Amino acid sequence: MKHPRTKSEFLIIFFLLIISLPLFLFISHKAAVITSATPPPSLPIPGLKIRPGYSSYDSYIQHQLNKTLNPKLRKIWTTRDWDRKIRVFTEFFSDLKQKGLLSNSSKALCVGARMGQEVEALKRVGVSESVGIDLVPSPPLVVRGDFHHQPFDDGAFDFEFSNVFDHALYPEKFVGEIERTLRAGGVCVLHVALSTRSDKYSANDLMSVEPLKKLFKRSELVYVRTVDGFGLDTEVVFRKKRVTPGP
Ligand SMILES: *[C@@H]1O[C@H](CO)[C@@H](O)[C@H](O)[C@H]1NC(C)=O
Ligand SMILES: *[C@@H]1O[C@H](CO)[C@@H](O)[C@H](O)[C@H]1NC(C)=O
Repeated sequence: MKHPRTKSEFLIIFFLLIISLPLFLFISHKAAVITSATPPPSLPIPGLKIRPGYSSYDSYIQHQLNKTLNPKLRKIWTTRDWDRKIRVFTEFFSDLKQKGLLSNSSKALCVGARMGQEVEALKRVGVSESVGIDLVPSPPLVVRGDFHHQPFDDGAFDFEFSNVFDHALYPEKFVGEIERTLRAGGVCVLHVALSTRSDKYSANDLMSVEPLKKLFKRSELVYVRTVDGFGLDTEVVFRKKRVTPGP
């Protein structure tokens, strides 16, 4: 039944608005806190697109953990994938040894190593001092670590490998941390996708090698070649410069 609002109804509505004001302020304060936790946008680099949509660094980490902790994927990684990946990685690392970019005495790090197949492959080709990092540890091959803040000292490694560049929300930090933890003259090998788009867990899309050349400020490009590496089509190798420019 419709009837015109009475004066007392308006008073009730007014009263409700007044008492809900603190709640409104509280919610908008919360929203402001979440917004301020939102990571600042990455430096714009032509040819490198950061995927939007993460409300905070924590939500990005949660999303990444979602893939890493997916029981179905973990099962595949430790069974069907295990030997096949180790075989392919063994070929990649043997090739790098032949090129003199890696040796048995190299201290090697695999960045974003999941279950550690690449670490196992390094050990099998004779690089005994190798370890991986990922958000979820996988002992004994992979220790816990965020590639945006590597848990290692400056210059700790001679060699770093990664095939998860596309998961970096802050590519400049991803690369900056690799360059920090590599010794001068150390080698970084990345496997990236240039012609294919990667999965829904990717945080960026790379269009060419040019953005990598910009990001690796303290290194020089050694070579770029086409590979067939689990959906990743390009191997890009950098060597950290021996003399870094002064401040
Ligand atoms: C994690 O995965 C589940 C199931 O696939 C999904 O419902 C949930 O929204 C995901 N969470 C994040 C943070 O991506
Ligand atoms: C490196 O290690 C591999 C595997 O253990 C071994 O076969 C090879 O002889 C070693 N190379 C050198 C130069 O010591």
